[in-house]
Amino acid sequence: MRRARGARGRGGGGRRLMDIRLLEAAPTSEERGAVDACLGPPRSAWDGGARGSMRDRHVAHGGQSMRDRRHRLLPALQALQARVGWISEGGLAYVCERLDVPPADAWGVATFYALLSTTPRAKRVLHVCDDIACKCRGADALIEELERKAGPAHAHAPDADHVRLADDASVWVRSPCLGMCEHGPAALLQQGGLAPSEHQVAALTVDAALEMLAGGTDQVPSVPAAVPRCIGEPRLLERVGKVDPTSFAAYQESGGFVALEKALALGAERVIADVIASGLTGRGGAAFPTGRKWDAVSKQTVKPHYLICNADESEPGTFKDRVLMEQDPFAVIESMTIAGFATGCERGFIYIRGEYPLATERLQYAIDSSRAKGMLGARVMGSGVRFDIEIRRGAGAYICGEETAIFNSIEGFRGEPRNKPPFPAESGLFGCPTVVNNVETLANVPAIVLSGGEAFAKVGGGQSTGTKLFCVSGNVRFPGVVEVPFGTTLREVLDLCGGVAGGRKLQAVLLGGAAGVFVRGDELDLPLTLEGARAANATLGSGVVIAFDDRVDMRAVVLRIAAFFRDESCGQCVPCRVGTVRQEEALHRIAAGRTIGGVRSELALLDEVGVSMKDASICGLGQTAYSAVESAIKRLGLYEDV
Ligand SMILES: Cc1cc2nc3c(=O)[nH]c(=O)nc-3n(C[C@H](O)[C@H](O)[C@H](O)COP(=O)(O)O)c2cc1C
Ligand code: SF4
Repeated sequence: MRRARGARGRGGGGRRLMDIRLLEAAPTSEERGAVDACLGPPRSAWDGGARGSMRDRHVAHGGQSMRDRRHRLLPALQALQARVGWISEGGLAYVCERLDVPPADAWGVATFYALLSTTPRAKRVLHVCDDIACKCRGADALIEELERKAGPAHAHAPDADHVRLADDASVWVRSPCLGMCEHGPAALLQQGGLAPSEHQVAALTVDAALEMLAGGTDQVPSVPAAVPRCIGEPRLLERVGKVDPTSFAAYQESGGFVALEKALALGAERVIADVIASGLTGRGGAAFPTGRKWDAVSKQTVKPHYLICNADESEPGTFKDRVLMEQDPFAVIESMTIAGFATGCERGFIYIRGEYPLATERLQYAIDSSRAKGMLGARVMGSGVRFDIEIRRGAGAYICGEETAIFNSIEGFRGEPRNKPPFPAESGLFGCPTVVNNVETLANVPAIVLSGGEAFAKVGGGQSTGTKLFCVSGNVRFPGVVEVPFGTTLREVLDLCGGVAGGRKLQAVLLGGAAGVFVRGDELDLPLTLEGARAANATLGSGVVIAFDDRVDMRAVVLRIAAFFRDESCGQCVPCRVGTVRQEEALHRIAAGRTIGGVRSELALLDEVGVSMKDASICGLGQTAYSAVESAIKRLGLYEDV
């Protein structure tokens, strides 16, 4: 269930819970400065300003105007975390005063996100990935050595007396997938302070980790540029590695913003008609037809409409959206502007996972320079169209990629999914009609506008039109993002990445991510289409392809997946909250040879729990939490000889 990272496997002993009666807790000047830098200075005594002004005694503030600021809660908490390294009672109390949010409510939000620490923690934190793709690249051995040399990972709720909070103090924590699977073992270094900084770390070594913990970064391997691999003409990766992602001029020279100009000339209805004709389906996992979604939102009479680009990308093994955002950020801005225009949105949000600092920086630069050049703002390209984009960073919660959880997260609540209906097209962000699209989905839009929907649909076929990005990692020679036409086989995708590294034998492939399924080495002729995957009782999910060679301990991989779901369940509904725990427990009992009633009875229990989660959970997390485990049991036969 949602709680800060580092909590795994730790008993409740010694755990300190914050008292949520915060009236006496006062912020330090550092905390006050961090919050004011985020929210602006207080406007009155009612929101944290100095008392005694005559005006404040006669003018009441609050009500709607304060409620309208609730959406600043997560950014304010993130500002505290970035400046001080953790969120103290005083800091939280000040945020509550500034935004008029009840402390218990704000506490519930702060404790929801793994990147926010509500217990004392050093300002320098090294997040080391121990997830499945990095396991294939030596993460377990690296972590063991790091534990020996640097001591154990920082615990979630340590005894405060033993936490060093000096400016040069540092800690390391275990992390679920950081979305850097092609560069594993991966890490993320966060340095808090007045000028906070973040570094994504590729091919982590113990020496580099120790250096970072000691305060240096000289030996930290920089992240190599992406090397895209394609079958056929690339549409989405066309500029990756070729066009400077930090230059507006370079983007324009490479054909950027021509599609936006054409879309404005064609008109919204025609753009939507083309997207419908293209057959484009969502690339975020659910494969819903994009044109239908856009059409539904555009027809809503309730205003305003909102657009959200879902860049949360926290499914283990997924990193395609990061590559697009880091390497072609202007294309994301152009695509969103076309989508906003077509669906009648004047405001768009990019909800990006907190572990993607480079992508965030590049997108922010692309937004600022596009606005300065008139591509965003009150008159997009000199037309009468208004559209602008704001970035919101997640804070370490996989569930916040679920479209309705994003609404709650942006609005300043715990990122818990909402019941559907109402669907987002009718009632989404701030209760208004909202389009939510994945980064890759949106990235297809300029090509559709430029060449027309029917031309787009000529690649691939059936319900699977266009090209698809796959995130290939694990034991392949050249891990990375590939772009292939729908219909390419799994074997061809693996071959494109050089096949299994070191001439080893392929044991299994995880297709579609933690919410996907394992397939066997003799199933590689599977055509990668929505229909092909469905017929094979599999899913393409978010485009994950993790290859495991014959040395990998697959039961450890399955256990890691089960731990991931247990950790990431928001805990809102019983089948998922309890089921993900029971599932992990049963797998642990099998692994330890301490089964209750034998392995067959544990497998029967797993099936019963899995079916309950599938049938009775309210969102996709619970509904898919058994998928990979089930396929490991039934498809790989992983527990047959236990
Ligand atoms: C637990 C969970 C996590 C999700 N994470 C993401 C994500 O990180 N990115 C994404 O685009 N969609 C994610 N989705 C799917 C979204 O709910 C939604 O279907 C998608 O953003 C719609 O965009 P699309 O139609 O362009 O795919 C997730 C769904 C679930 C249930
Ligand atoms: S299925 Fe229920 S408990 Fe699980 S993540 Fe979704 S809403 Fe939360």
